[in-house]
Amino acid sequence: MKSIVIIGFGGFGREVDWLARECGRTVRGFLDDNATPGKKGNYTILGGLDTWSAYPDTELVVAIGNPRIRRKIVEKLVSQGVTDFATLIHPSVNMDETVDVGKGTMICAGSIATVDIAIGDHVILNLNVTVGHDDEIHDFVTVAPMVALSGNVTLEEGVEVGTGAAIRQGITMACGSMLGMGGILTKDSEANTIYVGSPAKPLKHLPEFI
Ligand SMILES: CC(C)(COP(=O)(O)OP(=O)(O)OC[C@H]1O[C@@H](n2cnc3c(N)ncnc32)[C@H](O)[C@@H]1OP(=O)(O)O)[C@@H](O)C(=O)NCCC(=O)NCCS
Repeated sequence: MKSIVIIGFGGFGREVDWLARECGRTVRGFLDDNATPGKKGNYTILGGLDTWSAYPDTELVVAIGNPRIRRKIVEKLVSQGVTDFATLIHPSVNMDETVDVGKGTMICAGSIATVDIAIGDHVILNLNVTVGHDDEIHDFVTVAPMVALSGNVTLEEGVEVGTGAAIRQGITMACGSMLGMGGILTKDSEANTIYVGSPAKPLKHLPEFI
């Protein structure tokens, strides 16, 4: 199996290093424009993003929590010819064979996805997320730890859900919207809008996702 190069040497990037190793993969190192190349403890910074082609026999994974930044980087890499993105699913994740998972997606320890679920490309499901029946999680969604998604929930492209939030069954979060940590979402969200509280209400607008 190809070794892994992780894009983004932030806190989540280091968690993805652990995730990859737990998946039995070898991590070659990190690419990050804002880190100095060399050894940092147990980690190796290989260089900036544009050096990816120096590692031809690897798969990349973009380990950056912000959906807008993650999409920008993926689009740049794809435009430069990258096709090999790793899908990393921690061995403790419990999911039925009717769950589809796209490329470049990371599913962290303790998460559960039940049945008939579609999870897109470059999605992050962090620790202990529960995903209910018939949910649709589109590309570039980020779900923080301990989130509960009821059944028939749709998270459109670039949605972000904060730690410990919960979403009622049948709800759709529109493209680029966000639910803050601890929020309880009981109605569909509007695109590119942050919601907080219980029941969640709009707080402010975000830049357009598309
Ligand atoms: C919702 C969120 C994005 C808002 O961040 P922000 O734009 O910087 O907003 P601020 O911190 O300036 O807060 C604005 C107001 O909203 C309130 N607020 C912020 N987050 C809130 C939340 N999750 N629930 C309820 N109220 C919240 C603040 O108390 C503040 O209220 P005030 O104006 O009465 O003082 C952020 O607080 C959040 O929840 N982020 C998710 C964090 C997370 O889950 N990280 C996961 C890492 S793995």
